[in-house]
Amino acid sequence: PEQKEQVKTNIAQKLKEQDAVLVAHYYVDRDLQELAEATGGYVSDSLDMARFGNEHPATTLIVAGVRFMGETAKILNPEKRVLMPTLEAECSLDLECPAPEFIAFCDQHPDHTVVVYSNTSAEVKARADYVVTSSIAVDLVSWLDEQGKKIIWAPDRHLGNYIKRVTGADMLLWQAACVVHDEFKSRALGELIGKYPDAAVLVHPESPEEIIKLADAVGSTTQIINAAKNLPNKRFIVATDHGIFYKMQQAAPDKEFIEAPTMGEGATCRSCAHCPWMAMNGLHNLLEVLETGKNEIFVEESIRVKALQSTQRMLDFAK
Ligand code: 13P
Ligand code: SF4
Repeated sequence: PEQKEQVKTNIAQKLKEQDAVLVAHYYVDRDLQELAEATGGYVSDSLDMARFGNEHPATTLIVAGVRFMGETAKILNPEKRVLMPTLEAECSLDLECPAPEFIAFCDQHPDHTVVVYSNTSAEVKARADYVVTSSIAVDLVSWLDEQGKKIIWAPDRHLGNYIKRVTGADMLLWQAACVVHDEFKSRALGELIGKYPDAAVLVHPESPEEIIKLADAVGSTTQIINAAKNLPNKRFIVATDHGIFYKMQQAAPDKEFIEAPTMGEGATCRSCAHCPWMAMNGLHNLLEVLETGKNEIFVEESIRVKALQSTQRMLDFAK
């Protein structure tokens, strides 16, 4: 523990020396979340991470999360240096939506408005009309639907299906899934609800439909933390990455949080409610990046300029 504190002190000092700010997602290690908060940085969902990085005056952004979050920061802030503790942190949604296939799919449906989740590569964002995160996806698609637009949605099929059910919009869905949320098991969740009938169920919309159907609140990571704070229940069952428990417990200290089950009877899980890529971010690789300047994010300028249009529309819509 003493050594850990020393590493944290070194990181804090280097952040200051380099005019750098740490922006972290709720799913990364608790040490990184604590450090972000203690050093004037920020911990939030993917929309607010983008907003914070865009508005903060620091000349270097350190993004603790997965690659699309670093790329989004660079798309919005080409003049800033954007570093990440690791460049290996992928996202299954991004991996399952390769740009050439996606572009070909969009080209086959030229009468459709292209809306992509922020969990995508810069190239995919460059082909999109709008980027959204889970916190504004339903609102943005309803707004497009009111204008009579037909929509291509990518890449998360569960989130896409959820939006389609809620808005009734005409949507063509790409078929990728998140390795974490796809693992929640509805039968085991039903049994847990039976055991704790007083508990409210909080669900991230990357989860399968049968899980969403059992939810009392569905939303982005920030939105479900707010639900934990605002709903009167004393106990919650939470279907998202368990990294969220640190801030959730802080937001509602007198409440109890239980992980939704990822293991149905006889089943195995690939990720057990924790994103393997988020888990690659740690204190040691963060310090190394500050010492060496490695792991800088670059986005090719012609792609960046196009991706900026769809990403800026996300920020403008979210205002
Ligand atoms: P949020 O925008 O809700 O933080 O979601 C990002 C993510 O990767 C969820 O798996
Ligand atoms: Fe991607 Fe899922 Fe990890 Fe979020 S939790 S970064 S959606 S793989």
